[in-house]
Amino acid sequence: MSLTPNNIEEYCINHSSQISEVARSLMNFTRSEVHGSRMLIGEMEASFFKFLIHLRRVKKILELGTYTGFSSLIMAEALPRDGEIITIDINPHTTEIAKKYWAQSPHGKKIKSILKPGPEALSEIKEEFDLVFIDADKNNYSYYLEWASNHLSENGFIITDNTLWSGKVLQAGVDKQTDSIREHNQKAFELAGFTKTLLPIRDGIFLITRTPKEN
Ligand SMILES: C[S@@+](CC[C@H](N)C(=O)[O-])C[C@H]1O[C@@H](n2cnc3c(N)ncnc32)[C@H](O)[C@@H]1O
Repeated sequence: MSLTPNNIEEYCINHSSQISEVARSLMNFTRSEVHGSRMLIGEMEASFFKFLIHLRRVKKILELGTYTGFSSLIMAEALPRDGEIITIDINPHTTEIAKKYWAQSPHGKKIKSILKPGPEALSEIKEEFDLVFIDADKNNYSYYLEWASNHLSENGFIITDNTLWSGKVLQAGVDKQTDSIREHNQKAFELAGFTKTLLPIRDGIFLITRTPKEN
C-alpha cells in the first residue's frame, strides 16, 4: 500500500539506487505466487532503508517480520561484510521461501532466521542493535517499540512500518489493528530522550533515534 501516486513513486524508484537481481526475482516471485504480497516493503522503502543503513554505518539489525525475506535481503546487501541481521517470523512456509532466495545471494550468510512469535523470540535476545525494524503483527507494535528502545546501541535507530495504515490511523476505534498502531505512534511520540519523525513514505514509516547526549 502506498499513499503516494503511482507515477510519482515510480519516478522516485527509477531515480534511486536499484535493488539486486536476486532481490528483484524474490519480489517478483512473491508478487506472483505468495499470498499477502502487498506486505513487502517494495522498492521505494528498499532504497530508503539502504540509504539509512549506509548513512549510519549500521552493522547489526534486528527485524520483526521476515515474510519471504525481501526486506532482510535488502538490508543484508547494505551491510558491511561483517554485518548481521536477526529476523523473526512465525510462518515456516514463507521463511522457507526466504531461505531459498538468501542462499542465492552472497549477502545471505549475514542473515539469521528465528522461527518463533516475536515476544517470545525477543525475550531470549539480550544484545543491542544499530537498527530495529518493526514490521510484524500490529497488535504487538507497542511492545516491540518498548523492547527496541531498550536494545539500541549508542547510534541506534528504529524503523516502524505501516504507521499510517492506509490513513486509517486518523480515526480511533476503526478496528483493533488500527488502534494498536495508533497506540504505537502515540508511545513513539512520547518517548523521552528520542528524536522522532513520522514520514508519509509508502504506508507510513516512523523513524526513532536517541537524541544525542550533548543536545
Ligand atoms: C508485513 S510482513 C513482513 C514483510 C517483510 N518485512 C518484507 O517487507 O519483506 C509481516 C510478517 O509478520 C509475521 N508475523 C505475524 N505475527 C507474528 C508474530 N506474532 N511474531 C512474529 N512474526 C509475526 C507474518 O507471518 C508476516 O510474515
